[in-house]
Amino acid sequence: MPDNQSDVLFEIKKEHLETGLRGFPVGYCPTSTVNPTKGLYYSDKTIGEIAGWSPCRVIFLLYYGREGTDAEVKAFTKELHSRAKCPPKVISHIRQLPREGHPMKLFCAALLIAGMLEGKNDYREDCLNLIAQVPEICATVINYHAGWGGTNPSNPDLGYMDNFTQMLNIPGGYSPQLNEVFRLFNVLHFDHGGGNLSTFVGKAVASGLEDMYGSITAAMCALAGSRHGRANQDSLEFVESLIKEVGKEATDKTLEACIRARLAKGELVFGYGHAVLRVEDPRATVFYEKAMAQYPKDPLVKMACLLRAVAPKVLGENPKISDPYPNVDAISGILLMAAGFPYPEYFTVLFGLSRVVGIAIQIVYERCEARGGKGLPIVRPKYLFQPRDK
Ligand code: MLT
Repeated sequence: MPDNQSDVLFEIKKEHLETGLRGFPVGYCPTSTVNPTKGLYYSDKTIGEIAGWSPCRVIFLLYYGREGTDAEVKAFTKELHSRAKCPPKVISHIRQLPREGHPMKLFCAALLIAGMLEGKNDYREDCLNLIAQVPEICATVINYHAGWGGTNPSNPDLGYMDNFTQMLNIPGGYSPQLNEVFRLFNVLHFDHGGGNLSTFVGKAVASGLEDMYGSITAAMCALAGSRHGRANQDSLEFVESLIKEVGKEATDKTLEACIRARLAKGELVFGYGHAVLRVEDPRATVFYEKAMAQYPKDPLVKMACLLRAVAPKVLGENPKISDPYPNVDAISGILLMAAGFPYPEYFTVLFGLSRVVGIAIQIVYERCEARGGKGLPIVRPKYLFQPRDK
């Protein structure tokens, strides 16, 4: 809390209108923060510090705002395991939904169904139940949408993400390396400060006193857009298109020429730039390191790394671009592909599986803890009237 409640934090000028609330402070976030030059912190831990942790250890950190002792994390993990089994009727209703369209739509519908059948209308209870059950909901959505058959029985004792991986019916099975990449992807996507679109939307919907499941569903609809969660799928497709155009053995020179030509035609470079960051996204750095260490010969990894060297230089020449560096989406999907999950349609669902955690915990803060436990009022910003240009 600031010492002086009347401190001026931000001055609103006309030029700030219609800029997506970029940089407007609107509240406090107790779980994480995004520093423009240092990147994401979960509580006081950098992303590099928590990258090797188990999902439940990281969830404890976000939920309680401090690192748990081994005994505390064990007890918390047991608590989540006791809540983890989805009732069969939730699963069978999900499996009766239409499968048309992007799987994020199915994921959103599945979350609403889980809320209809399982919601307790208690933000804390629903937060823990949802965090515990979302791996099974998500595995069911992917297996059903992809036509991979039924979902293997949930066995939470295997561990949060190990259980998720074994519930998926990936054709041809999976390797321990893929399991590890899923864990890393999961812990790095849990939270990204209070103002990313899906988190903001989830909290805004909850401010009207919609329950946890409805608010999270709205948040996942926000995540589904290509400027937000779906950017990981689009970034992969972009790198694939580069390989098609310049070939697997491209040099920095040929790639640079290709990027310049595309920019000249008004095309975009996907996976670069961020609303807050002014350096390479530290989540991307962790993924690049993993990709280079484990899959250095993979053509997508090679192209993504070449682009990492070339694009910031070219984009940085444009004074209008304040962040020419790779964000998490520039490499996250490519690492999933290289590790044996060549199903880009499901990348955003995996992002959602993870982000549900941070959003649900932030909703608990805003509804049950903020303002001395009163909770925040309904979100209701002001718009200025301006007639349309004739
Ligand atoms: C995220 O992880 O939510 C994205 O980087 C977008 C954002 O922070 O605005």
